[in-house]
Amino acid sequence: MNLNVLILPGDGIGPEVTREAVRVLNRVADKFGHTVKTREALLGGIAIHKTGGPFPAETETLCLECDATLMGAVGLPEFDDAPPEKRPEKGLLGIRKAMGVFANLRPVRAYEALIESSPLKNALVEGTDMIIVRELTGGIYYGTPRGVSGEGAGERAVNTMTYTRAEIERVARMAFELARNRRKKLTSVDKSNVIENSQLWRRVVVEVARDFPDVTLDHLLVDNAAMQLVLNPRRFDVMVTENMFGDILSDEGAVLAGSIGMLPSASIGARRPSGVWVGLYEPVHGSAPDIAGQNKANPLGAIGSVAAMLEYSFNLKEEAAAVNRAMETVLNSGRVTADLKPKGVPATTGQVGQGVCEAI
Ligand code: IPM
Ligand code: MN
Repeated sequence: MNLNVLILPGDGIGPEVTREAVRVLNRVADKFGHTVKTREALLGGIAIHKTGGPFPAETETLCLECDATLMGAVGLPEFDDAPPEKRPEKGLLGIRKAMGVFANLRPVRAYEALIESSPLKNALVEGTDMIIVRELTGGIYYGTPRGVSGEGAGERAVNTMTYTRAEIERVARMAFELARNRRKKLTSVDKSNVIENSQLWRRVVVEVARDFPDVTLDHLLVDNAAMQLVLNPRRFDVMVTENMFGDILSDEGAVLAGSIGMLPSASIGARRPSGVWVGLYEPVHGSAPDIAGQNKANPLGAIGSVAAMLEYSFNLKEEAAAVNRAMETVLNSGRVTADLKPKGVPATTGQVGQGVCEAI
């Protein structure tokens, strides 16, 4: 198979972690007899510096042409005071929307080898294996009207949370299908005791459930879900929730995996005629400018995102499993980056990537 992949290194630690992820992609392709063709484009702060905007037209064209896109991270401190429209993050929101990737899959697994680096009691975290399905192209991130107006004590900011039935239905369907192929349990998270958006969300999810009688559905209010995630994470199989709730809960989920540097994600939307998903793959972590360029960022979130790409966009399950196994081998070897608190000297970003390649 020929894999045409667009690489968007982005900002901060993005280039370092994507470099290792691409190395792993090449290694696994080589091993299984595939060819990889990568192209690189600009997204985020680096794109603002070089082109004036965070999501250049050329990047948009390329991401719609390639088979799959791998993104590093976006965000730079020099844009901290810029309005949302002029920030690197706007590029990420733009590409998600342009690609139509409405479902963001964020698997959260407690790795055996990392159990000690969790701040939670081992017995509690052990065996956690869940997927957070975050709605990615709607809700308060995109709703209008939005903006800041007026001045003095009357200065006022507005954001709008909006969902249509169709937007809720498609992501719910995706979550039910995932649950059907796992432990058949879906938890929908909302705030239906207060907001209308969540009332519609819950109503639509209940309707979709009729098509999935084999999946057990339950509902949690988001505040309670935040608590259950650290009280009893094993209760979760698949969780589905709207955009901002998913953003927040998935960072919380990172605690269960040992470090946010571990979390991969797959953003998928439409299926191509061949049946594979149009996909944007990105680690959950941010650009971590404080450690950028020091070769100490954990590349496993990005490498895990390559595994997700192989699985969802190329339907290469064996190849994906090989990457995941190699990651576990590296974790078990203890040759990991500082965020995972290894016993000896922490490994560099490059050493972890190298280790995964060797294990493949
Ligand atoms: C994430 C990030 C992004 C988001 C930011 C960088 C725009 O936090 O992917 O979780 O909020 O979606
Ligand atoms: Mn986030």
